[in-house]
Amino acid sequence: MNKKILVTGGAGYIGTHTCIALHAAGYDIVVYDNLSNSSREAINRVSSLIGQSIDFIEGDIRDAESLKQVFSSHHFFGVIHFAGLKAVGESVAQPLKYYDNNVSGTITLLEVMSEYDVKNLVFSSSATVYGDPERLPIDENSPRSCTNPYGQSKLTVEHILEDLAVSDASWNLIPLRYFNPVGAHPSGQIGEDPNDIPNNLMPYISQVAVGKLEKLSIFGNDYPTTDGTGVRDFIHVTDLAQGHVAALNYLQQQASSKSSSGTTSSVGFLPINLGSGKGTSVLDLVAAFTKVSKQPIPYQFAARRAGDIASCYASAGRAKGLLKWQAELSITDMCQDTWRWQSMNPNGYNAT
Ligand code: NAD
Ligand code: UFG
Repeated sequence: MNKKILVTGGAGYIGTHTCIALHAAGYDIVVYDNLSNSSREAINRVSSLIGQSIDFIEGDIRDAESLKQVFSSHHFFGVIHFAGLKAVGESVAQPLKYYDNNVSGTITLLEVMSEYDVKNLVFSSSATVYGDPERLPIDENSPRSCTNPYGQSKLTVEHILEDLAVSDASWNLIPLRYFNPVGAHPSGQIGEDPNDIPNNLMPYISQVAVGKLEKLSIFGNDYPTTDGTGVRDFIHVTDLAQGHVAALNYLQQQASSKSSSGTTSSVGFLPINLGSGKGTSVLDLVAAFTKVSKQPIPYQFAARRAGDIASCYASAGRAKGLLKWQAELSITDMCQDTWRWQSMNPNGYNAT
């Protein structure tokens, strides 16, 4: 079976961890990234962790000619498509930038894939497509709706993939709906490196712990949750990376059973949640991080953040049943690995 995979956005936070997991699983990877939210240093570190140089191409998914060059030089089994912009607030201020990058970019990629007859795709979707969930835990058949352009861009791509699967049964399309990815590689060499002040909880907490930020504002303590703060399904990024390997293994099995049995059935559009299935509150996460880092994490309660929901956690049964994958690492592991990355790299990938 052909094990060559194109990884768009492979220089980013989730992409780098996934490249390591793919390499360990015997996949042969080519990374394609425009470095708009990442750095060559991240690629260098992945290369040194896997003990060989990564095949890296600097390019934009909106650039069809550049993608065609890549597809004509390599024979890919499929694509893992991470490339995209992800800041919710920025998407509200600059919606066209988000639709252009995330939606138009994905259409260009799909057109080139189609031209080169590469029809296996794993796409980075998000639990954000569930909006404010009607019931918990959230399963893949829950209604979808979004309130911001970032979320809309993910939902629009999901709709495009669904339509594509209907139009042509040879596509095999797995959107993975991530819950809240956190943590870092256990080596402390790669991790999340937000520009400016972090929007997300875990990087904010770790920057308070390391002394870069003064105190955490907890957005809301009057939610209908155990302690009044928001509840999320945090998932360690290395577990998430393994989820991508499991999705690709599944596509490979389907492809080999299709060719050996001569059947024409394909995967079509198959969304899968990647979460732990467990909810953790903001205050629980602060307590866990304090214990692990042995640092004070001062916080204050502040008003709810616009657009936030009270609770969100996955039903992880489909991933377990179909992909034979489940999250293994605990909240303590997530805090330990984040803290190691943060303390070893107080300025992220930039030299100190
Ligand atoms: P990231 O910003 O660290 O990685 C995205 C990578 O894509 C970056 O390296 C960036 O340079 C690259 N990129 C962006 N636009 C590109 C373009 N037009 N052409 C080529 N490369 C481009 O983000 P991440 O946290 O690793 O997220 C990866 C994917 O997962 C994104 O699509 C994101 O929306 C999605 N996602 C992330 C989260 C999360 O909390 N981190 C949650 C749900 C979904
Ligand atoms: N929070 C704070 N203070 C902060 C940051 C966050 O109290 O400084 C709270 C939020 O109010 C929320 C919880 O911490 O209750 C988690 O917030 P995050 O910003 O870390 O994560 P979200 O669940 O809001 O959103 C994340 C990604 C989205 C993605 C979504 C679902 O940012 O892109 O998970 O996958 F769509």
